[in-house]
Amino acid sequence: MDLNLKQKVILVSGGSEGIGFATAKTLAEEGAIVMIGSRSQEKLNHAKQQLSAFGDQIIIKPLDVTNPENIQAWVATAVAQFGRIDGLLINAGGPKPSQFEQLTEADWQTGFELILMSAIRMIYAVLPIMKQQQQGSIVAITSSAVKEPISELVLSNVFRTGLTALLKTLSRDLAQYQIRVNSVLPGRIDTERIKKLDESRAQQTGISITQIQQATLQNIPLGRLGNPDEMGKVATFLLSEAASYITGQAILVDGGLLKGL
Ligand SMILES: NC(=O)c1ccc[n+]([C@@H]2O[C@H](COP(=O)([O-])OP(=O)(O)OC[C@H]3O[C@@H](n4cnc5c(N)ncnc54)[C@H](OP(=O)(O)O)[C@@H]3O)[C@@H](O)[C@H]2O)c1
Repeated sequence: MDLNLKQKVILVSGGSEGIGFATAKTLAEEGAIVMIGSRSQEKLNHAKQQLSAFGDQIIIKPLDVTNPENIQAWVATAVAQFGRIDGLLINAGGPKPSQFEQLTEADWQTGFELILMSAIRMIYAVLPIMKQQQQGSIVAITSSAVKEPISELVLSNVFRTGLTALLKTLSRDLAQYQIRVNSVLPGRIDTERIKKLDESRAQQTGISITQIQQATLQNIPLGRLGNPDEMGKVATFLLSEAASYITGQAILVDGGLLKGL
């Protein structure tokens, strides 16, 4: 199957590690020009080095998705350099893990900026060029928490469901411009984020990390964590023209973890 991604310009936020990086890599393998953003120049350099086989196809530019000016500059760079944006992957680090009663007002504000406002601002930034092109694909990485809330990830539960509602709304409103809007929902994918969440759970419960990991695996019918590449492939498909009739969907990649229909 040809994904028809050659020379397509795709922006990947939070793309220096984990799921974002895996998506950037898959996109590059398919011939896309990929602009990766994240906060740390060091991580960006490392990502560029890991993808050195793709040469000029990979552009790195620092980006903090909680900073509106950063977002404007990031998108403007792509438009100035390539004159188009075919796809946007909305992704960043996850919010602070915590149960409801431990969260402060400042935590709520930070979570809101990181998960919801960042996505809103990135979508506003790419819309003019995508509307002008009469074409584009927007994909957000959210979480299985959108379908089944996770007790100690209240900020994720709340703001990612809000984001999902926005994406569904936009999928209908933007279809007239041939702009598709979808999301991919990771279950338990083997990245730095999962390691930190397991550490945090171990600290809060006094249960060892090994026991926490074993309990996680017992709940996953496929019996293992997901590989970031398995997320990257689904996100790449949705960003490509191969998914030209898919919009407004929230697709789980969870090894069968969630039990609901
Ligand atoms: N892994 C899972 O199983 C899982 C499950 C459910 C949901 N999720 C969610 O999926 C997303 C990606 O997960 P992951 O596991 O790939 O995370 P990760 O391994 O922690 O990677 C996060 C990436 O985002 C970047 N980033 C963090 N904060 C940023 C910011 N403010 N602005 C721009 N870039 C930022 C990081 O680079 P810098 O540090 O350089 O900024 C890094 O490249 C997260 O939101 C996570 O909560 C993951």
